[in-house]
Amino acid sequence: MCGIVGYIGHDNAKELLLKGLEKLEYRGYDSAGIALTNDEGTEVFKEKGRIADLRKVADDNDFDGTLGIGHTRWATHGVPNHENSHPHQSASKRYTLVHNGVIENYEELRAEYLSDVNFLSETDTEIVVQLIEHFANEGLDTETAFTKVVSMLEGSYALGLLDDQDNDTIYVAKNKSPLLIGVGDDFNVIASDALAMLPVTNEYKEIHDHEIVIVKRDSVVIKDQDGNVQDRETYTAEIDAADAEKGVYDHYMLKEIHEQPAVMRRIIQEYQDCEGNLKMDKDIVDDVAAADRIYIIAAGTSYHAGLVGKEFIEKWAGVPTEVHVASEFVYNMPLLSENPLFIYISQSGETADSRAVLVETKKLGHKSLTITNVPGSTLSREADHTLLLHAGPEIAVASTKAYTAQIAVLSILSQIVALEHGREAEVDLLRELAKVTTAIEAIVDDAEKLEDITKEFMDDTRNAFFIGRTIDYNVSLEGALKLKEISYIQAEGFAGGELKHGTIALIEEGTPVVALATQENVNNSIRGNVKEVAARGANTCVISMEGLEKEGDTYVIPQVHELLTPLVSVVATQLIAYYAALHRDLDVDKPRNLAKSVTVE
Ligand code: M6R
Repeated sequence: MCGIVGYIGHDNAKELLLKGLEKLEYRGYDSAGIALTNDEGTEVFKEKGRIADLRKVADDNDFDGTLGIGHTRWATHGVPNHENSHPHQSASKRYTLVHNGVIENYEELRAEYLSDVNFLSETDTEIVVQLIEHFANEGLDTETAFTKVVSMLEGSYALGLLDDQDNDTIYVAKNKSPLLIGVGDDFNVIASDALAMLPVTNEYKEIHDHEIVIVKRDSVVIKDQDGNVQDRETYTAEIDAADAEKGVYDHYMLKEIHEQPAVMRRIIQEYQDCEGNLKMDKDIVDDVAAADRIYIIAAGTSYHAGLVGKEFIEKWAGVPTEVHVASEFVYNMPLLSENPLFIYISQSGETADSRAVLVETKKLGHKSLTITNVPGSTLSREADHTLLLHAGPEIAVASTKAYTAQIAVLSILSQIVALEHGREAEVDLLRELAKVTTAIEAIVDDAEKLEDITKEFMDDTRNAFFIGRTIDYNVSLEGALKLKEISYIQAEGFAGGELKHGTIALIEEGTPVVALATQENVNNSIRGNVKEVAARGANTCVISMEGLEKEGDTYVIPQVHELLTPLVSVVATQLIAYYAALHRDLDVDKPRNLAKSVTVE
């Protein structure tokens, strides 16, 4: 989703901003822009489309500076076009602004203060910059005008403001949307994501909602709403810049699929003590073990990981667990148990839908645990506890290694809570996760075979179905999501037994149906479902597991513990989705309309 970068120092800001925006491309966007300020004033360059298009326009112009802000926009208010792209400017062009998030009261503010001003864009952002100029024209200095306007905004925002009468300041504020201040030697930066500015600095300061930050070349001053200066330590972003590169792979998604065995090993290492036992922060275990019911809140792929997590928590730890789509839960909260614990699963830790639930459950006084890949992310900072995925940066929009990491961490949490409840360990989990690692390795090594399977089943279709029963049903949902989001094949996941209650009407000659068959207790039933669709002309692709395979199965995964099969079978579906998109010549890592980090509700 939208991304912000800013630089104030002594180097060429144009190049640094463009490079920073390139690093944010993975978040998803449909237009981009930068603004530079020097002694002559401020110049804005913006373009619909890719950063490469913006770079052409910016490079064709000699205007440069050592101070600037940049933005990638994922359209919400107004179509993706030049006018709606950021940065936006005030009527006189004195002020220039980039904004992430949604200003909910922009129409009211416009009606009250600026009904006579001609707006150039359809965005909710323009009100902010026009209003700052309005108050500056009434005599307020820029910091006071900025602070006043920020206090009037409702909704979510991360803001970076330039004043062309002052080429030594970027004004910054945030509420709900992520924004960091990166600090350097005689320069400072702003970024929605530390990855964007990692080549320049790995030292960052967090800013809190409603704070105002005055960023100059040699200082960063953070103030609360009442103007009191806040002390804030810097922290080092522990990201290896090389992890954020594609390396030898053609796409980040392929790289991230291949990284899954290494991620499994890292998780095993991080959650193991020197005696080879599972380990986890005692406070987390105590809080989870004390809950009478667990509510898992997540979106998309993370929601699918939560569905698998529920199986471990209920079966191993014996705690009743509900899994909810964040965007629904916030408007329709079910009756809660007496002592609930909320688990927020989010690769990015920034998903606004999940954060909205966290805000509500905190108000109700309920304990929370975030499982995320991004230390210091909003959901991590705001929850009582965090468990990290240790998956390394996930850049491709389609989530792969985060899904398997989420499931692995949930399995470890469940086992530790089971032990805390005095239950016998049902499995030697570390040993089973090691087997899973080897099994994932075998599948990624088999990529060519999965590419052939993709050619046979997916290359000439407009739609596809994934079916499974029990835990395989959860994987069928994820397999379908992965395929649809990057190949644009209309794909749906169904419980095998549910098809005949309606959806089977859609099966016609050649419709691909991918059936997951990794569970012994439903092996015969899912195979019955395969026969039902085959009898109606479906092109059936059966992914089964060693020990349960039958003649004619399309792909057989190595044998692993029955509850851990999603960690392995999903990898086959990830590769099928990858090759389906590749064979259609699509942008695998940046599918249309999607954003990596969904920071608006
Ligand atoms: O960062 P999060 O895990 O909270 O993101 C949630 C979803 O937006 C995300 O999983 C999305 O469904 C992926 N693009 C799926 O591949």
